[in-house]
Amino acid sequence: MTTVLITGANRGIGLELVRQYTAEGAQVIACCRDPAKADALKELVASSDGRVRILQLDVADETSIASLKDVLGDEPIDILINNAGIGSGGLAASSIEPNNWMTATRVNALAPMLIAQTLRDNLKRSTEKKLVAISSATGSIANNRGGGYAYRASKAALNSGMRGLSRDWYDDGVIVGMFDPGWVATDMTAGQPAYISVEESAHGLICQIAELTPATSGIFQDYRGVRIRW
Ligand SMILES: NC(=O)c1ccc[n+]([C@@H]2O[C@H](COP(=O)([O-])OP(=O)(O)OC[C@H]3O[C@@H](n4cnc5c(N)ncnc54)[C@H](OP(=O)(O)O)[C@@H]3O)[C@@H](O)[C@H]2O)c1
Repeated sequence: MTTVLITGANRGIGLELVRQYTAEGAQVIACCRDPAKADALKELVASSDGRVRILQLDVADETSIASLKDVLGDEPIDILINNAGIGSGGLAASSIEPNNWMTATRVNALAPMLIAQTLRDNLKRSTEKKLVAISSATGSIANNRGGGYAYRASKAALNSGMRGLSRDWYDDGVIVGMFDPGWVATDMTAGQPAYISVEESAHGLICQIAELTPATSGIFQDYRGVRIRW
């Protein structure tokens, strides 16, 4: 049975990924900051015949990442999805603020690298060995139209780190995928018109993750499989 670990699994795209992977028959490790408040996830646990487990993880906290590793031990993880992320406010060139920038970088760029490093052996012990980052098209430097500075920079840094892992861990058989999930109706886009639903985004992501091979490891694409310029 495929084991999938998803960060930021209590709402938005992460929650829908849990729902759809569970429906496919996978075993899902659903990580979130505050399991006590993760009501939608708890409902999925109750209806999953034991295939969904909720584990605590604050991705911005190294102690929390270490505790997750203690709980998982050597358990193989076929698909590790770094989904947790934050928007950054402070959109304009005139309102760049250090704490805001560092927090976006910490959560969106550094945390996925630390989690990948910590769970590297769990990936290597699995059958599929897929490391996934939910990035953003706004992380494309080639397509940068200005604005959204901290968020764009954090996703560009995420892409750089993950692209590096696709090369450094190639001989371990680890396959890396970076995905833009589309412009999706979630809390992150609340108040703005979104183009697609979480259902469509998660379905597309799951299809594209299934298609990843060593030959496509390290590419940046969207939830439909359309390549995105760096
Ligand atoms: N929605 C879009 O259109 C869009 C477009 C491009 C990329 N993305 C990316 O897609 C991913 C999911 O976004 P979304 O739209 O589903 O956003 P969302 O609805 O705002 O959900 C964000 C998730 O990340 C979690 N999270 C944030 N900081 C965390 C931390 N320190 N530790 C653990 N979990 C943390 C949140 O948990 P809490 O409930 O505890 O805060 C929540 O589960 C993000 O990486 C985002 O950048 C989204």
